This record gives sequence, structure tokens and C-alpha cells, in this order.
Amino acid sequence: MPSPQASWSAPGLPEGRRSLTAYAYHFGPGVAYQPAHRFIAADIDLQEGVWLDIGCGPGWLAIFAGAGKPELDVVGIDTSKTMISLAEDNKQGRLNVTFREMDAREVVYPQHTFDVVTAVQTAHHWDDPAGILAEAFRVLKPGGRMFIYEADPEATIPRDWIRRRGIWPPDSFLKRRWKQYGMDQARWDQLKAVGAASPFGTECEDDRHGFYRRLVLTRR
Ligand SMILES: C[S@@+](CC[C@H](N)C(=O)[O-])C[C@H]1O[C@@H](n2cnc3c(N)ncnc32)[C@H](O)[C@@H]1O
Repeated sequence: MPSPQASWSAPGLPEGRRSLTAYAYHFGPGVAYQPAHRFIAADIDLQEGVWLDIGCGPGWLAIFAGAGKPELDVVGIDTSKTMISLAEDNKQGRLNVTFREMDAREVVYPQHTFDVVTAVQTAHHWDDPAGILAEAFRVLKPGGRMFIYEADPEATIPRDWIRRRGIWPPDSFLKRRWKQYGMDQARWDQLKAVGAASPFGTECEDDRHGFYRRLVLTRR
């Protein structure tokens, strides 16, 4: 098994410091992006079946996706033990949402398990996108879809997509972070090329949702 990615933001940091970055994410972006995650959950709107969120972080997308849907099971996976424990706290005992420490390069579910796979703001961390797309293809049911989202620093940020305390965080701060840590157009184009070369092949649609660039890959 390939070794799990050491950290989502700071490879090489000792374990204690890595946990700090996860906590910082939980209290910062993890809160700010909650409305965006609600919009994503509402847009995909899967009512029943099984949904996999890879790189789930503090778990809000999985939690919003599963809310009020007893026929839907949502699984969130992340390589960060701290993120998974924060997600467990956030889910407050919801029975149809499960979080597991797992690398998206090696998903321990059988083929044709999931109706939907999402990956929000995690693709810019992947050192093996081809391997992750191949795994997503394997675990998706025929006809199932994978949605990859990355914030676009050039996008207009819809007002209600970010939870703010007063004026914090301002758009300028968010865009600076996305420029610093996210994907520019060239990296996004590389990801699209990986998608086109993956088993998804031509079933790879590039569009937008809110302030995100979005790739929708359909498993034939
Ligand atoms: C910037 S956070 C985004 C979290 C969440 N999706 C969100 O939008 O708030 C990226 C997450 O991807 C996770 N990650 C990175 N590579 C991964 C991999 N190969 N498998 C699973 N999780 C991964 C990191 O540990 C981190 O929690």
C-alpha cells in the first residue's frame, strides 16, 4: 500500500504540528465554507444510495449531504487522523454518515459501491491524481458521477457562499489563499488531461459552480 500522504498542507512537519494545521482548518475555512458545502450538497441532491466524499476534512459536506435523508449513506475519508476525529465530533451521532481514515489512492470498498464521489478542495494536494481517479472509477456504480471542485481565484464569490464573522474573511483574503495553495488554470488543465486519460475518458465535463471550477466525470 502506498504510504498515506503525510499532511494536507505541510508535508514534513512533525505529527503534533500537522494536527495544528487540521485544527486551524477546522476553525477557519471549515467554518467559512459551510454555506458552499450546503450548496454543493443541495445541487447534487442524492436522496438515496451511497455517497463517498474524499478528502472530507472536518466533514461538513458529508454531514449536509446526509441530513434528513435516511435512505442515503455518506462516507467521508481523509488521510488525516485529526480531520477524521474533528469530523466525527461535528457529525454529532448522525447514523447515516461515516468517517474513516483512508487514502483515496486505495479505497477499501468493493467496486460499484457508490452513486456519487465528491472531492472538494483536495485535488491540489494529490500527488497521484491518475491513481485516485482510477480508484473513484472502480468504486462508482455504472452511471455514477464524480465531482471535483477547486476554488478559482479569478471567480466572483457569491455573497451567501461564505460564512463570515463581520467582514472576515474578506474576498481578497480568500483569493490570496486560493492563489497560494489552490490550482491555477494550468494545473486545472493538467487535471482535466489526467481525467481524459483516465478510465472516465471523454465523459469529463468542465464547468463551474459558485466560486469553484468543477469537473464532472461520469462512469459509463
Ligand atoms: C483543504 S482540505 C479540504 C477539506 C474539505 N474537503 C473542505 O472542502 O473543507 C484537503 C483535505 O484533503 C485531504 N487529502 C489529501 N490527500 C488525500 C488523499 N490522497 N486521500 C484522502 N484525503 C486526502 C487532506 O488530509 C485534507 O483534509
